[in-house]
Amino acid sequence: MSGAIRRLINLDEVGSTNTAALEAARSGDPGTLWVTAARQIAGRGRRGRAWISERGNLYASLLLIDSVPLDQVGNLPLVVSLGVRNGLACLLAQDSERVQVKWPNDVLIGGGKAVGILLESERLADGRQAIVVGCGVNVAHVPLDAPYKVTSLVREGATADLDVVFDKVAAGVEQALEIFDRGRGFMRLRQQWLEKAVGIGEACRINLPHETLFGKFEGLDDTGRLVLRTESGVKVISAGDLFFFEHCMNGNTQEAEPR
Ligand code: BTN
Repeated sequence: MSGAIRRLINLDEVGSTNTAALEAARSGDPGTLWVTAARQIAGRGRRGRAWISERGNLYASLLLIDSVPLDQVGNLPLVVSLGVRNGLACLLAQDSERVQVKWPNDVLIGGGKAVGILLESERLADGRQAIVVGCGVNVAHVPLDAPYKVTSLVREGATADLDVVFDKVAAGVEQALEIFDRGRGFMRLRQQWLEKAVGIGEACRINLPHETLFGKFEGLDDTGRLVLRTESGVKVISAGDLFFFEHCMNGNTQEAEPR
């Protein structure tokens, strides 16, 4: 994507930029299209949760068409979160090491969640595969009721306006996708992701749809799945909600602040 002119639809108010991007795909858009909005009235988060989307934060979705082989789609959360992380690190140049990734696809600043990423995909009627990468960045506001630590760019001292934040985030994601190269560059990105990740080697809890696992976050396998050492052996996990604790092993939870 480097050197190419970025295709962008800039909306004021929308239900969800992810939905708008998918609608563009259904209408025949060729992809590599960004959709942004100043406000979402039906913003979506992971696991069916709502993403409160008032004016002042960034809501941006990238539509990709047939650009990621199906067996590589599972690696996209890591690729995209690293790209967003690298983009935001440019805005916090003095403090860029405080910008980290958290499995599977959050971006934290100083341990507080500053970004949520939601990937959605659809096989279109004409057979093309659409993937939408939706990014919500806390620029001016943080959610009031989050069950984990949250932060925003303003709180962390970044002064860039929304256009600049979008430009950095988009450039970071585009660069990561270019290195990803339909999966061929994944191992390089995986290594960079590990260098920027929170919590490797720490005790954690992972909430899955039908069970909760406790153990130690050992790292990632070659396909980007989380490797968890539990008392009953090693498990690899593709998706879930990850929380860290100061001391927690197999239910023996002395919960510190989950993050
Ligand atoms: C999460 O739950 O952490 C993911 C939140 C993803 C929110 C973004 S905002 C832009 C895009 N449009 C949506 O409706 N959701 C994503």
